Amino acid sequence: NYVSILIKNGTVTNDDHQCKSDVLIIDGKIKDVGLNLVAPAGVQVVDATDKLVIPGGIDPHTHFQLPFMGTVAVDDFNIGTQAAVSGGTTFVIDFVIPTKGQSLLEAYDQWRSWADPKVNHDYGLHVAITWWGEQVSREMEILVKERGVSSFKVFMAYKNAFMVNDEEMYHIFKRCKELGALAQVHAENGDLVLEGQKKILAMGITGPEGHELSRPEELEAEATNRAITIANSVNTPVYIVHVMSKGAAEVIRHHRGKGHRVFGEPIAAGLGVDGQQCWNHDWRHAAAYVMGPPIRPDPTTKEYLMDMLATGDLHCVGTDNCTFCADQKAMGKDDFTRIPNGVNGVEDRMSIVWEKGVNTGKLTACDFVRVTSTAAAKIFNVYPQKGRIAIGCDGDVVLWDPKATKTISAATHHHAVDFNIFEGMKVTGLADTTIVAGKIVWSNNKLQTVQGSGKYIESTAFGHPFLGIETRDIARNELLFKVEREPYTGPVIDLSKK
Ligand code: URP
Ligand code: ZN
Ligand code: ZN
Ligand code: ZN
Repeated sequence: NYVSILIKNGTVTNDDHQCKSDVLIIDGKIKDVGLNLVAPAGVQVVDATDKLVIPGGIDPHTHFQLPFMGTVAVDDFNIGTQAAVSGGTTFVIDFVIPTKGQSLLEAYDQWRSWADPKVNHDYGLHVAITWWGEQVSREMEILVKERGVSSFKVFMAYKNAFMVNDEEMYHIFKRCKELGALAQVHAENGDLVLEGQKKILAMGITGPEGHELSRPEELEAEATNRAITIANSVNTPVYIVHVMSKGAAEVIRHHRGKGHRVFGEPIAAGLGVDGQQCWNHDWRHAAAYVMGPPIRPDPTTKEYLMDMLATGDLHCVGTDNCTFCADQKAMGKDDFTRIPNGVNGVEDRMSIVWEKGVNTGKLTACDFVRVTSTAAAKIFNVYPQKGRIAIGCDGDVVLWDPKATKTISAATHHHAVDFNIFEGMKVTGLADTTIVAGKIVWSNNKLQTVQGSGKYIESTAFGHPFLGIETRDIARNELLFKVEREPYTGPVIDLSKK
């Protein structure tokens, strides 16, 4: 029951090329791209004059209906994926987060059972590794070889819940290396976060502003450096999730400058707003911005992170969409450490990147496609099935209107959450029409989604080719170790044959 559609007169925009072209989607896949295509009988024709025709957005970081900090995130896999398509995103990668001691396979099955009946578009899964042992090592292999998982996240924060120590992280990264999987890190010094929280509470600061004060930027930068150092010691690439500060971004740039394989992911919240919101006199307003690592109060951070996306030092824009309503945030009314951490983003991500990136002249339209879709498809190895407009790719396509304008508001958004951290922001550049597997699911400001129609997409762990680099102690000019180039053994995609 796939639908067929012909998109006429648009400007096809991939990460590397832009041209006038029609796009024909038959049975959910892109069948043809070219000028003056003629619609076969029974095919719906959509006019895309003055619109960009882009690959559907990919959000590599969501937490739909996540059980977290004593409650459950309110955007579930149905509402979350509806919010996604209304903003031009057609693929998300969510996180399975097992509790310490829990079987990874059991947790994976749990997430599949939550997502499969509800998703309105395709999705993938990362798996968090929250403990270490023989069983975890075995189950990581099964997830890679039989469940299509190719990325594993570790938490360096949330002590006593998800946090692993350096020794565990070393073994987990080593296992990622053996399996060809990508290691992902939540980088904050969890021990010092805990001490910082005690110190700030002891000073009598119990409100949301205590959140950032207790976990300042240097705790993120230090952990980022430590994670990269450990990944480098086992010669495996590493992906830093939710890069929230200049300090952490600088660390990533530094290591990349030495030739290390490090990827960085800013999120919509970090590009769109600043953490001074946590000082708002209205408690509910302030608490809505609490997430970890904190959105930084330095208001120039967001422009800095956008600049690093433009230069390629940071790579894909996620959201960390993990939403809690006022009554849930209120669990931390007298103690900021109990405010459930998380913000919205999946609906507004694309417009925020367009507004703050393209409208400011920092990004080209091709850059926009790269950071909102293609880079994630490549890094998480679902490319070119996702993340590209070309023959043979999935029919997940967005008609992007660079001139359309709206004011973001909780009154009109498609989330279940009762607050929007971008409230009142005027953005120019919107998803006019969103097509999922050849079917229009968003147009004329209306959703036409089909719950449960999305599929779980398997990814393959392919091992990132690692260049022959030397790691030197710069100060002493001493060779620490040398990494030999490894032969690439993964799949080879020949786009010219498509
Ligand atoms: O505050 C956040 N980031 N909540 C979601 C969990 C995580 O660390 O990604
Ligand atoms: Zn995290
Ligand atoms: Zn390095
Ligand atoms: Zn997250």
